[in-house]
Amino acid sequence: MNETSPIIRSLERSYCTDPEILATERAGLLIRTWRFAGHVNQVTKPGDYFAFEMSGENLFCLRDRDGEVRTFFNGCQHRAHQLVSGSGHASLVVCPYHSWTYELTGQLRAGPNIRSVPDFPKSEICLTSVRTEVFHGFIFVNFDDAAAPMDDWFPGAREELGAFVPDIDRLAPLEWVEIPEKCNWKVSIENYSECYHCSINHKTFATGVIKPETYDIQPQGYCLRHTTECQNLDQMTYPIELESNDFAGSYSSWFLWPTFSFQVYPGNRLNSYHWRPHGPDECTVWRGWYSIDGEEEPVVRQLAVQDRETTVEEDIYLVESVQRGLKSKGYVPGPLVLDPGCGVNSEHLIRALQQ
Ligand code: FES
Ligand SMILES: [Fe+2]
Repeated sequence: MNETSPIIRSLERSYCTDPEILATERAGLLIRTWRFAGHVNQVTKPGDYFAFEMSGENLFCLRDRDGEVRTFFNGCQHRAHQLVSGSGHASLVVCPYHSWTYELTGQLRAGPNIRSVPDFPKSEICLTSVRTEVFHGFIFVNFDDAAAPMDDWFPGAREELGAFVPDIDRLAPLEWVEIPEKCNWKVSIENYSECYHCSINHKTFATGVIKPETYDIQPQGYCLRHTTECQNLDQMTYPIELESNDFAGSYSSWFLWPTFSFQVYPGNRLNSYHWRPHGPDECTVWRGWYSIDGEEEPVVRQLAVQDRETTVEEDIYLVESVQRGLKSKGYVPGPLVLDPGCGVNSEHLIRALQQ
């Protein structure tokens, strides 16, 4: 690409099709950034834990006796056996191989016959921890111990989310919708990061949820911030009470680079996107829907179904078609539509993602 040219093009084919590029991302970008691990609702009591996989590593989160949420590599410090699987509750972490036992802080507590070893370095043995932050109840981890805190990466996002969703700290997942997509994770995220395609492809979203003509997306640190107004009330597909608070009539989303997004539908309805790369042309999108204490909430259920049947379904068709096109010998990276005034019909945020 010509550095001085104002024309910015879509990604070269290899970025979205080459297994080596994905391996490089997994060894770099995807482990030095804040990634979503789970929700505090999965670890409400000390000793609660859940295991998960991220960038090829087995990890687990647990809540310790002081209430802190910690994340560890899921491997024993003796001879590397996996410590826990699934989710559950344990007063101590006990390795199934030779029963070495760890405190909830990760410190080694005991092991059969270890005292027989002269100068056994027990106090030095601790599970390897992973940097963890709780962000309005959402647990994020970063393999980079030196990474700046999330508030530095995503300035303003924590406060803004608190204002858009007054009950955010009382929310718990009501529904997870798992969406396999046959495309590179970046194709799916680029699609999420522009609304140039919305009016043509997302009739329900564009005429029954938001007003496309007010849509804009702007970078905010490493966050990409989407903002728009709700659709006229007589056209909304679900009820909202405009008077209930300052943001009830707004839509906003905070995409936390590289693989998570908080999205607030009009009516202060929080939902989330979590992208998980599996292969160069395969990823899963997890859509989370939330209610107070995870209690049944008909509007949230209705939105989860409506979104799965419309926007999500429509996007699967788009991103999988793009992935097939990227693999074609006829593919030439095309110029992005970068409107200097930004707005709904501009792809300026794809440029920001590329950078
Ligand atoms: S590998 Fe865990 S106790 Fe031996
Ligand atoms: Fe879309």
